[in-house]
Amino acid sequence: MRITRFEQITSTNDEARNHQYSHGDIITAEFQTNGRGQRGNRWSSRVGENLMLSLVLEPTFLHATRQFLLSEAVALGLVDTLAEFGIGARIKWTNDIYVGDRKICGVLIEHDLRGAHLARTIVGIGLNVNQVEFDPALPNPTSMRLIAEREFDREEVLQTLARKIMERYAQLAEGASEQLQSDYHALIYRRDEVHTYRLPDGTPFEGTIRCVEADGTLIVEHTDGSEQGYLFKQIEFVI
Ligand code: BTN
Repeated sequence: MRITRFEQITSTNDEARNHQYSHGDIITAEFQTNGRGQRGNRWSSRVGENLMLSLVLEPTFLHATRQFLLSEAVALGLVDTLAEFGIGARIKWTNDIYVGDRKICGVLIEHDLRGAHLARTIVGIGLNVNQVEFDPALPNPTSMRLIAEREFDREEVLQTLARKIMERYAQLAEGASEQLQSDYHALIYRRDEVHTYRLPDGTPFEGTIRCVEADGTLIVEHTDGSEQGYLFKQIEFVI
């Protein structure tokens, strides 16, 4: 594992595409001029307060149809990291990390395929560590410092995060996908609770998350007892 550190860069995920980086390498930045989030959103973070990084993985053993398992392994590694620092977190499908009803960490995973298998995966992570003031336009942010009421050594958090994600990755590589599945299931945010969700056309509805299938489909039980599967972008949480 090599860590390459930048003061300023467009996006660590863009830098990680460079083939000078290989499996286990990490790129960090203090500031991104074009930080990218999920659903085409931007990701911004105060200079010197948080962690913004990309981890390069080469999961060539993983069939493309099983790529959600990698997402689960990363999310679990992040929850394990926070647990190491005394913070109990959950996974908001698909892989946002939440403490209570607030987002502490976002993940942007980008895959390159070779044939039917994954060749290279870039795991972009934005973890709020010591930031205490956020843009009021952000819906529900929090940070390790806000939760634990103390400052954290970002280098220690980075080293722990790298170790914990690689431990979960090793589980995946060793074929322990059922363990990953059940650990992920146990940590699903809002599982087995009735909450409001929204369809892409804006229609709200009440439902209960029951589980996430191995391919990443979210299973929600409707008030009439019927269950329906939703894919990414087919359902929005109302928080
Ligand atoms: C999300 O929308 O929740 C995902 C946010 C991911 C942000 C990280 S910061 C490091 C890496 N580089 C990027 O441009 N994005 C990811």
